[in-house]
Amino acid sequence: ARRSFAQSAAMANAIKNVTVIGSGLMGSGIAQVAAQTGHNVTMVDIDPVAVEKAQKRIGASIARVAKKKFGEGDDAAKFMNESMSHLKTSTDAVASVESADLVVEAIVENLKVKKELFSKLDGAAPAHTIFASNTSSIPIAKIAEATSRLDRFGGLHFFNPVPVMKLLEVVRIPETSDGTYEAMKGWGKAMGKVTVECKDTPGFIVNRLLVPYMFEAVRLVERGEASPRDVDTAMKLGAGHPMGPFELMDYVGLDTGKFIIDGWHADYPDEEIFKPSPMLEKLVADGKLGVKSGEGFYSYKK
Ligand code: NAI
Repeated sequence: ARRSFAQSAAMANAIKNVTVIGSGLMGSGIAQVAAQTGHNVTMVDIDPVAVEKAQKRIGASIARVAKKKFGEGDDAAKFMNESMSHLKTSTDAVASVESADLVVEAIVENLKVKKELFSKLDGAAPAHTIFASNTSSIPIAKIAEATSRLDRFGGLHFFNPVPVMKLLEVVRIPETSDGTYEAMKGWGKAMGKVTVECKDTPGFIVNRLLVPYMFEAVRLVERGEASPRDVDTAMKLGAGHPMGPFELMDYVGLDTGKFIIDGWHADYPDEEIFKPSPMLEKLVADGKLGVKSGEGFYSYKK
């Protein structure tokens, strides 16, 4: 069948080769889904141990997906082998972007480190390569400054766990071209995600609403008006939320919550709902970070 010009143009621009930088919680999830959906993926980390662990984690996770999709047998094995054959690993970010159509950065949440990385990649990647950051709390525009491809720069904000969570926030800075934005959204759909569009504002959509909500829950407890347990019960049974705010904070990590609010508070000191919370500060100072440390608002010690 003949394709329309628009379809051909879209296909010519389709993203096939993806380099994911950072093989932690988010990077490994993004790399996994990209490999599962037929992209040629290179997953990079400065830490060779991290990237090796990530590859094993992905193998185990794809095996679970294959079993769920196909049960036991040949189709499951085929899905598993094909997915894994699409995934390469590397510790050399610069070399890994040479044939990339898209680079998704998911390294440590630090502006200076992200800028250093993108500045190096800008000189090494082909002209057509789109750069995107998965940052949760740093303005995309501040990261993009490190490059001379502002029209080919944007945000691709995934949610944890990436293989499970359906949403992808696609973020544009004023300079992002329409072609880049369409390509990013198209890739999101090819990844099996539902995309939403957002400008480069603090927290984008989900975290801009969720983080202040969680801090309001803490403030309510700080004022002695209700207990964490009762707040969680209330929001689950009264608002239909699958998790209460304190369960959610323990799951996300109290250090992450503090990091995000501190960043926003520094940028917008007069904004009441971005103010830090003494109760959360104390928990973090005591090493009570949530599920991952065994204790946060609740105890997870076995
Ligand atoms: P993580 O700590 O699990 O993984 C970060 C990885 O990056 C580590 O393996 C580290 O060795 C590697 N790395 C650090 N500097 C590097 C460099 N210069 N070059 C190559 N690799 C480098 O972190 P996580 O949680 O995966 O977060 C990554 C990014 O994703 C952050 O920007 C964060 O804001 C964002 N994000 C995190 C979410 C979460 O729920 N944890 C949700 C959505 C976005």
